[in-house]
Amino acid sequence: MNIISFKKIDSTNTYVKSNIENIEDKTIISVDAQTQGHGRFGRVWVDLGAENIYMTFCLKPSEKIEPVYANLTQYLSVCLCKEFETFGLNPQIKWPNDVLVSNKKICGILAETVIKRGMLKGIALGIGINVKSSLPAVGAIDRPVTALNLEGVSISKNDLINSLAKRFFDGYEDFLKHGFKAIKSDYEKFSIPLGELNLAIFNKIECGNFAGFDDDGNLLLQKNDSVVKINMGEII
Ligand code: BTN
Repeated sequence: MNIISFKKIDSTNTYVKSNIENIEDKTIISVDAQTQGHGRFGRVWVDLGAENIYMTFCLKPSEKIEPVYANLTQYLSVCLCKEFETFGLNPQIKWPNDVLVSNKKICGILAETVIKRGMLKGIALGIGINVKSSLPAVGAIDRPVTALNLEGVSISKNDLINSLAKRFFDGYEDFLKHGFKAIKSDYEKFSIPLGELNLAIFNKIECGNFAGFDDDGNLLLQKNDSVVKINMGEII
């Protein structure tokens, strides 16, 4: 495992995508500051200062695109929950991959792919973790957000990067081989309790009752007489 650190760049995901041919498989890019950190649905990922984690795994598992790559964000969310459990926290996952503590978001994960002529050149699997912030700073974000220090955990960002990366790569080959099934029971254990659901999928809202996760990490939504598989969007 190779970690390359920078003081400030636009975004670790953008850096990995732009330099994919020159970055080795399993390299981690970590920075102190991002000027254009971004999240799912084109949202801004707010920079909360240098003590927080902004990092991207550069992954090149194969040139052929395999369905399991779509579950890497869920795999990383489970790895992070296991790390947080070692701090005595009760982390939860909000499908598909938001990690929450005390019902507030503490981490965001975004996977972006580089595909050229039908071949997968690599995956930029980015993660932002709020390690140290202040109540006014998290309060200024337009949704409930927390940080490890605000939950009573004091850890250095480098220690967390190292232990998370070790945990991620220790289980990585097994995960690639077996897919979401390899993490399904852990994922279900960490999932927030789900019941009646509203899901935002692009500009559409889907309503129904939670009917479980399938073996591919899709959320199953019971709607009247049918069960619909949802593979994108977010719970609102
Ligand atoms: C989300 O919750 O919407 C995903 C947020 C992902 C943020 C991380 S921070 C490191 C990496 N670089 C980015 O620009 N985004 C990801």
